[in-house]
Amino acid sequence: MNAVIRSTGLWTPDESVSNDELVACFNAYVERFNAENADAIARGSVEAKNPSSSGFIEKASGIKSRYTIDKAGVLDVDRMRPRVKPRANDELALTAEAGVAAARDALERAGRDPKDVDAVICSGTSMQRTYPCMAIEMQDALGIEGFGFDMTVACSSGTFGVVNAINMIDTGMAKSVLVIVPEITTPQLNFRDRDSHFIFGDVAVAMLIEHEDVAGGEGWRVLGRNMMTKFSNNIRSNFGFLNASEDPEPDFEDRYFVQEGRKVFKEVCPMVAEMILNDMASFGLKPDQMKRLWLHQANINMNMLVAKKVFGREFEPDEAPVILDEFANTAGAGSLVAFHRHNDGFEAGEKGLICSFGAGYSAGTVFVEKL
Ligand code: COA
Repeated sequence: MNAVIRSTGLWTPDESVSNDELVACFNAYVERFNAENADAIARGSVEAKNPSSSGFIEKASGIKSRYTIDKAGVLDVDRMRPRVKPRANDELALTAEAGVAAARDALERAGRDPKDVDAVICSGTSMQRTYPCMAIEMQDALGIEGFGFDMTVACSSGTFGVVNAINMIDTGMAKSVLVIVPEITTPQLNFRDRDSHFIFGDVAVAMLIEHEDVAGGEGWRVLGRNMMTKFSNNIRSNFGFLNASEDPEPDFEDRYFVQEGRKVFKEVCPMVAEMILNDMASFGLKPDQMKRLWLHQANINMNMLVAKKVFGREFEPDEAPVILDEFANTAGAGSLVAFHRHNDGFEAGEKGLICSFGAGYSAGTVFVEKL
């Protein structure tokens, strides 16, 4: 293949929320709910809510903190969601601003000018609006010529975007493609739901994919890529433009992220491990050639299980790095952020795998070799 991952870039919000801070707010909400509903709870017509715990969150998920666009709103027990200030149509959209910052970081690291880029793919779990396209807004803000488009495949949005970029380079349609994954996920999260209130964090990541002819021998050659999907309702959000016309109008809670976490864990881990091993075989690669796996970052225990199945042995932490402690689950951005943060220490010829998995179900693999 002739596509090369030339550079990556990252944007994070200034503020982050620790498990203890999040749990203190959640438990204040629970205490108030139980007090306000004490009679109904005593009659058995309302179920008492249980408190959350930092210990559970860290053990069950590996998450210690998460970035958010508005800490005060998330930790305000009367609100429990970030505050987003509406912007005028002539201002840059919030997700575009995050994506542009990550894209500028990627361009700078590669020493590239926006004029060097032929196309922008904006890929994420959900777009701030349907149109005009977020990718085109970012293309305009960056001063890139050519074209842009949005796409979304839930937690595999990042890798599927990268696969699209690789294919565009492979077919000669572009020499340089910027994949931008702005994941502003905390507004999609129900901070009053004990099972999931700790899961997501906000971030934007960008990846510059170039043809080897322009990459100048720098970066990571793509050795192979694949995408797979299999329908499941176990991770779902019913948010969409039909909501406003639904009669009766659904509760807002129905529009947030919901999941059957246990089922997801059980079904996705074997599916992904099998896909990785099959893909490796079809690209003529072997597990012992993989120096590092940059896996999707949803849950530390999922990553341990998938990595152990792929390596066929116990492994060192730097063979499958985890960023959940700092970032939490950043949806479609997770595996690309893991790659961005942990791609040091590779000699030319050493290989690794970027792999996403999540809602859909969906999973994507991108095998790379250091140039
Ligand atoms: N604080 C304290 N205890 C909690 C809790 C919280 N916030 N949330 C759940 N619990 C309790 C439950 O009540 C349950 O108690 P019980 O055994 O007495 O009934 C126990 O912890 C286990 O709950 P469960 O929901 O089965 O937890 P889990 O071990 O499956 O972990 C996930 C939950 C979400 C971390 C886990 O299912 C998971 O990682 N799934 C993968 C899916 C994923 O992360 N997807 C993201 C999108 S890709």
